[in-house]
Amino acid sequence: MEQCVRNGEESELDYQDVEMLQSYGINLADLKKLKVAGICTVKGVQMTTRKKMANIKGLSEAKVDKIKEAVAKMSNSDFLTALVYSDKRKQVFRITTGSLELDKLCGGGIESMSITEAFGEFRTGKTQISHTLCVTAQMPGAKGYGGGKVVFIDTENTFRPDRLKDIADRFNLDHTAMLDNVLYARAYTSEHQMELIDNVAAKFHEEPGIFKLLIVDSVMALFRVDFSGRGELADRQQKLAQMLSRLQKVSEEYNVAVFITNQMTADPGATMSFQADPKKPIGGHILAHASTTRLSLRKGRGEIRIAKVYDSPDMPENEASYAITPGGIADAKEC
Ligand SMILES: Nc1ncnc2c1ncn2[C@@H]1O[C@H](COP(=O)(O)OP(=O)(O)OP(=O)(O)O)[C@@H](O)[C@H]1O
Ligand SMILES: [Mg+2]
Repeated sequence: MEQCVRNGEESELDYQDVEMLQSYGINLADLKKLKVAGICTVKGVQMTTRKKMANIKGLSEAKVDKIKEAVAKMSNSDFLTALVYSDKRKQVFRITTGSLELDKLCGGGIESMSITEAFGEFRTGKTQISHTLCVTAQMPGAKGYGGGKVVFIDTENTFRPDRLKDIADRFNLDHTAMLDNVLYARAYTSEHQMELIDNVAAKFHEEPGIFKLLIVDSVMALFRVDFSGRGELADRQQKLAQMLSRLQKVSEEYNVAVFITNQMTADPGATMSFQADPKKPIGGHILAHASTTRLSLRKGRGEIRIAKVYDSPDMPENEASYAITPGGIADAKEC
């Protein structure tokens, strides 16, 4: 396994290039085809089904079988003991949101190797949290986290570099260096969004261990436009599932935190019941299952907002308040 030593952190990461499969008899031209399709590492091959690989131009089923066999030989066993796995989990880091209270709510910050989803009505701070994370992800943090670069995929045209500058001022960071560490892309259609996520995988591969955070603000907006009406719902959910599965894999393969935002819609069934909050996040079960941690955001007094853990494998359903300030997200008591 390759040893990556960067920013003073030392960690064993499996960024094994697919080209290593050459020594198992796979020819380079075929491996290059995998890379063009966004599969750059041996782990990436493991995470892709045979069917999907056979869809790549120039790869026959026989070739795919040979590649899969080579990967199986190389990785010996897919099983690890819980002890080894717990060591692997030690690579997981957390990025501060700018508010200690909000961090506490999510177990110390936005977690790597998983997807965190924040949903809420307009002006609840989803985009402001995204902007704050662009800056805080670059700063060294708890437990040896060294900081790193960020990718921001913007589907609503609400990314503002000037906001990043204000937030950088709060943390005394140099504007130019900070802006240089954020790769920005505007997505225009849901298909474009998917392509960008594939390209992101290639970027992460080019500079292993350098990127720490991937933001998609917002994840559903384009799907909502591109697939309208009940007739297209099944198709939308299928495409959405593919995109989320890609995001999940990218987060694990390259040990990055994935932060996505989501909108809400009125729940038509809720008016008939005594539910306190008749709104729910869009994306249905597909999104619900893909996000590891779901934060529900709502407005409080003035610039105060309240976040609630909606769904998490290891966090209790608590609440925390935070404030939107010129310097980004902060504790509510600071304003
Ligand atoms: N420079 C700033 N200083 C303080 N507060 C700001 C600043 N810029 C924006 N805000 C506040 O942030 C809030 C908007 O938050 P944000 O854009 O993150 O909402 P959102 O949840 O992304 O909404 P939408 O669903 O429309 O995308 C507004 O209440 C606004 O007052
Ligand atoms: Mg927004």
